[in-house]
Amino acid sequence: MFRPASDAVNRRNGTTRRADGYHARMTSPNGTLYVGNGPWCTLGDGPPGSRRGADMNDPGTREGWAVLSRNGVIAAAGAPDVLRTAHPDAHVVDLGDRLVTPGLVDPHTHPVFHGTREDEFEMRNLGRTYVDIALSGGGIRKSVRLLRAADDAVLARNVAENADAFLRLGTTTIEAKSGYGLSLEDELRSLRAIRDVAAWHPLTFVPTFLGAHEFPDEWRDRRDAWVDHLIDDMLPRVAAEKLAVACDVFCEAHVFTIAQSRRLLLAAKKLGLATKVHADEITPCGGAELAAEVGAASADHLVHVSDAGMDAMAAAGTVPILLPATSWYLRLAKDAPGDVMKRKGLPIALATDFNPGSSPTRSLPLVMSMACVRYGFTAAEALTAVTVNAACAIGLGDRVGRLVPGYACDLVAWDLPNLRSLPYRFGENHVATVVKSGRVVVERGR
Ligand code: NIG
Ligand code: FE
Repeated sequence: MFRPASDAVNRRNGTTRRADGYHARMTSPNGTLYVGNGPWCTLGDGPPGSRRGADMNDPGTREGWAVLSRNGVIAAAGAPDVLRTAHPDAHVVDLGDRLVTPGLVDPHTHPVFHGTREDEFEMRNLGRTYVDIALSGGGIRKSVRLLRAADDAVLARNVAENADAFLRLGTTTIEAKSGYGLSLEDELRSLRAIRDVAAWHPLTFVPTFLGAHEFPDEWRDRRDAWVDHLIDDMLPRVAAEKLAVACDVFCEAHVFTIAQSRRLLLAAKKLGLATKVHADEITPCGGAELAAEVGAASADHLVHVSDAGMDAMAAAGTVPILLPATSWYLRLAKDAPGDVMKRKGLPIALATDFNPGSSPTRSLPLVMSMACVRYGFTAAEALTAVTVNAACAIGLGDRVGRLVPGYACDLVAWDLPNLRSLPYRFGENHVATVVKSGRVVVERGR
């Protein structure tokens, strides 16, 4: 497990906190040359920005490639012999004939919680539903009770353990939501746990405020007042402390209405936060249309999205983030219409939705397999959805998700011979080496 370095080391490494998220920067004076003979999916062809339609199917593969990392950023990319000659003093790391991809980007996770809910998994498998369990006091409300009883050190340790697991599975950047505190103090504690771990852990975090995840037990009879409290008291504190770059809401029949969600998202926008919506997951309720209306960065889940909702998102530039592990795990009768979105030319991203209730997995390769099987994606489309498009969905499209100069030197070497084998060989971890900000952080899968 990664542990916090001493303050002196942190200062020496120049750990930085940026307005658009948290990023632990590593330096390496002579530069490091990562070279390989295998297929490198650089996602490097074409312009930056999210990809749609046929462009999602172009992984920019090179047979044998190299990148030079300086100060954690790719300074040059090209054929291995060309770069070796041009940079004779660089430290060389040979990745052999493995498949190499950019470090994966998970644009929707809930990594700050305490305790687990395996009892609910079993209840659902025996016939109860997610909503029924939530309405009887379980679900998110159970996780809220558990988080409130955990102290700050425990929360930080949990976030760090999750961050380690993401890296071991090839993910180098995550969007990270609060949402299991649901009181001013406990939401601030959750976001500070992300901030504090991000200050020293190699994983990059992009924090999102999700105070509108549920109605906490003590506010259930005063729902509009809880939304007022989120708008008047919590959002301003979160923004003033710069603890989040986005605000999300669980817009769904049993939780936040369209009107409540709209009110919250417009207030968040006024404070300069990006907006996101958990939309149309369990019932069709117009979440995608709302996301488009407020100019949200993303609308997520979208199992029951309408045709008009998809068109509105396309027009507004709202990225659909699909979470196939969640619909599978909740035994939903329907899948999100990933195939339709593909035909409509939406810039689809994929995420784990990692959380203790509806998707306790940190594996993006598993999610890629599910997208191939359930939405009819190719391996290249699935990879684009967890690199370029995922990065664009969280505002980092100009710095992560592609192996080109100017981007972070975040890459994964997989014990696999080609890209197609990544979603094909599902349910196992094929990560050999992970490089984060130019530094090897996982070797031989550990
Ligand atoms: O994205 N949909 C709302 N939030 C989570 C579930 C959280 C939980 O059940 O703990 C999700 O699926
Ligand atoms: Fe979620």
